[in-house]
Amino acid sequence: MRLKNLQLVNFRNYKNLHLEFNEKVNLLVGKNGQGKTNIVEAIYMLSFGKSFRTNKDKEIINFDSESLYSGGNYLKYGRECVIEIAIGKNKKGIKVNKIHVQKIQELLGNFNVVIFSPEDLRLVKEGPKERRSFIDKEISQIIPKYYNYLTNYNKVLFQRNKLLKSNFVDKNLLDVYDESLAKYGSYIYIMRRDFIKKIANIAINIHKNLTGGIEDLSITYKNQLDISDEDNINMIYTRFLEKLISSRDHDIETRTTRYGIHKDDLNICINRLDVRLYGSQGQQRTASISLKLSEIELIKNEVGEYPVLILDDVFSELDETRQKLLVDNLSAVQMFITTAEVSHKSIFNKSNTTIFNIDKGKVISIENGGN
Ligand SMILES: Nc1ncnc2c1ncn2[C@@H]1O[C@H](COP(=O)(O)OP(=O)(O)O)[C@@H](O)[C@H]1O
Ligand SMILES: [Mg+2]
Repeated sequence: MRLKNLQLVNFRNYKNLHLEFNEKVNLLVGKNGQGKTNIVEAIYMLSFGKSFRTNKDKEIINFDSESLYSGGNYLKYGRECVIEIAIGKNKKGIKVNKIHVQKIQELLGNFNVVIFSPEDLRLVKEGPKERRSFIDKEISQIIPKYYNYLTNYNKVLFQRNKLLKSNFVDKNLLDVYDESLAKYGSYIYIMRRDFIKKIANIAINIHKNLTGGIEDLSITYKNQLDISDEDNINMIYTRFLEKLISSRDHDIETRTTRYGIHKDDLNICINRLDVRLYGSQGQQRTASISLKLSEIELIKNEVGEYPVLILDDVFSELDETRQKLLVDNLSAVQMFITTAEVSHKSIFNKSNTTIFNIDKGKVISIENGGN
């Protein structure tokens, strides 16, 4: 996957911007608060239809304007495609190859992006919610209907919890909710199990490489149903439904749902020890990098092409060895790297790098490789 260009109109602090990108490395350099992340936010939105920084689309529209436009041409399987997003005060339209998409599900999977930000370096250290969100984003890109199941599951979970909080809990309604949760949940369990298995197989090798062969990274699926490789969808549906029903009294008392995919997590171990509890900060970071790099390989395996990679402000958080490891491991991937430090320029091979110097919502100069 290669993003060829980006056109922004009234997107954050960009009134009107057109950029042509390098097919390898794009360095966005500038002081803090100038608009580096705004550009990668726009790139990310072409993939997911929404920002990674806010759920409120309105915030993205330039302060002095009523609407924004963002569009990008990219190459996939050698063909040129285009994604366009328009956001007004109360409406939003997304087009893929000039055709309106009705649901986010139809956008997902067209243009694949992996983003790596400082929070991701803490992926291993953070709580389960962050790891679930990592899992959800990745599966949605590979299997867009996963996003549909997840949205439906969350809607039903919200309804069920609302019912549990009411003064009278209608058992018939609870029956309906439980069956729906089990239906959507069982699909999600299966998809998460398969995804985690695949990513774990890739991660073990990547982590070995990153650590000179001395660390064994194991990643397994932590869930309340002890799901095994042999379990099929019907078995999972039945077990999940039983759990929901058996937990009803407890759930009514605590007014919340105890069992389900919303409690899932990853077990991450290095040399058999839980890296969250026993790993050093360096080990936790390297394990996080291994996970992110695995995600890139997995998308390559499943989609047939590498995703575009965004590194937002992570560079300055890495020591030079890890910076080099990252860049060397990713020579086949198109990258967008934001950084405030010009010194990082030296890490990159000049011939395949374009540097965009950014100041107050303007690209003030462009340095092309070799010049
Ligand atoms: N909706 C908006 N309209 C105009 N400017 C905005 C909007 N949202 C954010 N900004 C401006 O964008 C700048 C931050 O851009 P950002 O890309 O996050 O900076 P950085 O270069 O540090 O990554 C700030 O100056 C902020 O005022
Ligand atoms: Mg930034």
